Amino acid sequence: MQYLLELLSREVSTAFEAAGYPASAGKVSPSNRPDLCEFQCNGAMSLAKEAHKAPLVIAEEVAGKLKGSGTFSYVEAVKPGFLNMKLSAGYLTDYLQQMAEDPGLGLIPVETPEKIIVDYGGPNVAKPLHIGHLRSAVIGESVKRLARYVGNEVTGDIHLGDWGLQMGLIIHELSLRKPELCYFDEAYTGEYPEEPPFTLEELEEIYPAASKKSKEDEAYKAAAMEATFKLQRGVPSFTALWKHIMRLSVADLKKNYERLDVSFELWKGESDADKFIPDMVEKMKAEGFAVESQGALVVDISQEDDKKEIPPCMILKSDGAALYTTTDLATLVDREQSLKPDRVIYVVDKRQSLHFEQVFRCAKKTGIVPESTKLDFLGFGTMNGPDGGPFKTRDGGVMRLEVLLNDVYEEMLKKMEASDHELKGEEAKEAARIVALAAIKYGDLSNQATKDYIFDIDKFTSFEGNTGPYILYTVVRIKSILRKYKEQGGSLEGLKLREAASEEEKALMLTLSGFNRMLTGAFGELAPHRICAYIYEAANEFNRFYHSTKILTETDREKQEGWIALLELSRRVFEECLFVLGMKAPEKM
Ligand code: ARG
Repeated sequence: MQYLLELLSREVSTAFEAAGYPASAGKVSPSNRPDLCEFQCNGAMSLAKEAHKAPLVIAEEVAGKLKGSGTFSYVEAVKPGFLNMKLSAGYLTDYLQQMAEDPGLGLIPVETPEKIIVDYGGPNVAKPLHIGHLRSAVIGESVKRLARYVGNEVTGDIHLGDWGLQMGLIIHELSLRKPELCYFDEAYTGEYPEEPPFTLEELEEIYPAASKKSKEDEAYKAAAMEATFKLQRGVPSFTALWKHIMRLSVADLKKNYERLDVSFELWKGESDADKFIPDMVEKMKAEGFAVESQGALVVDISQEDDKKEIPPCMILKSDGAALYTTTDLATLVDREQSLKPDRVIYVVDKRQSLHFEQVFRCAKKTGIVPESTKLDFLGFGTMNGPDGGPFKTRDGGVMRLEVLLNDVYEEMLKKMEASDHELKGEEAKEAARIVALAAIKYGDLSNQATKDYIFDIDKFTSFEGNTGPYILYTVVRIKSILRKYKEQGGSLEGLKLREAASEEEKALMLTLSGFNRMLTGAFGELAPHRICAYIYEAANEFNRFYHSTKILTETDREKQEGWIALLELSRRVFEECLFVLGMKAPEKM
């Protein structure tokens, strides 16, 4: 279905033409003065000079052509040359009826679907998920769903940090704690055990302990690096240990991401890229891209128009070790061979922007990906605590994601119990879990991703204001009316929308009509916050309408059916938006 604004622009363009002006002046936009009109066109102003006429005169001529068009109920030229318009209620109803009859709600899918990889999540194995991982998961999931929703072929890849020093640290620490294990017996030739020689709890304690020691003790660090090196060389005993770490850790990660309603098609990691490194490096050398510099291997990626200096991209350190950049480049080699993506979107902390600038430039320069492949860095800001500094636990430590989820859940349950909500026991808890997740996600996604934001539990869990619970509460309200309507014997089948009878009803209808255009725009900018802004506006409009209209007690059948149709359309619009944001509304709350 064509965007409403597009249809209106065409109509107004035709009027400009009919009045003897270029059609290009007929662009219509939502009104800046909603108190005066719903839409406006500023085209007359730009024509004045050339036409040697006052813009108001031009606007008046065009307004004359639009009168009686059936599309607008009101058209007026106002000083200095605006065209102010209101849509006719009938036209709006027809548009929404078409939208209601379309299973896609009038969405216009992308013209050429692309194969897109969204690289998000990025947790490091053997470290518990902490709040630093929240944003990538929440934003990445939404971007993935959005890209898919508008018609692309999308794969999400978690890109585990599963190959670096943290693995060597764990293995080394383990060798000190349990030297008797067969993994550390060089003479051992048997099979390695199926059972891991540690629990997840131990693992989570081992890593920070080892990390701390390595910062204080050079020899310890050297030994951990040696262990990392041996692992990367494929020493069987270390590979066996690594697999144990992976299995325990990944199972736990899956559980945590599931709780967030975040899922990945690919559970690949840095380790999977490793085997692509030698050939990639050889090729870069052979083609003269990679050169030696102070013992290291680097690729110059500076460009003439650089405003600030972009350091060369380091491929191998002087000791021959690969770096974070190397891994990301090799991952692109892998992705190119297996999926040939048209576009890769990285959802990572914005402090890594230079790293990705280097990776992108190097990948294009060395031909790892074709020039046409789009590489996008969606860098997000920090989640801060109420004091404005990075979010911490009460005692100043890094907060585990689980703890945060539990805290928000407890708060949500408390607030729901304090309000006169209709659920009890397990049902109440289940609803609180759903709403708590929406509180967290909405609190994040309603901000522009690049900006830092303050994680404020009290605000995020409030039923009022621009919050997840407010949106869900609105959707639950709609569902409840629809349910009661059905309980009274009504059916949602074949209901037709009616012309708006009130200003509130029309405002809601106008907001709903913008669904398709909003989604296209949100995808174009990779901006879930635009979807949040849209549903917040829709929720406000819906509640205004709801408070001014007695729906269930209405005795005029036709009127009531029109409203029910409008409610059903609203519900669908809300639920589609929530789905794309990675949330859902409970039936009751
Ligand atoms: N594991 C990395 C970190 O914790 C994030 C990975 C981001 N994705 C990537 N392809 N580099 O910083």
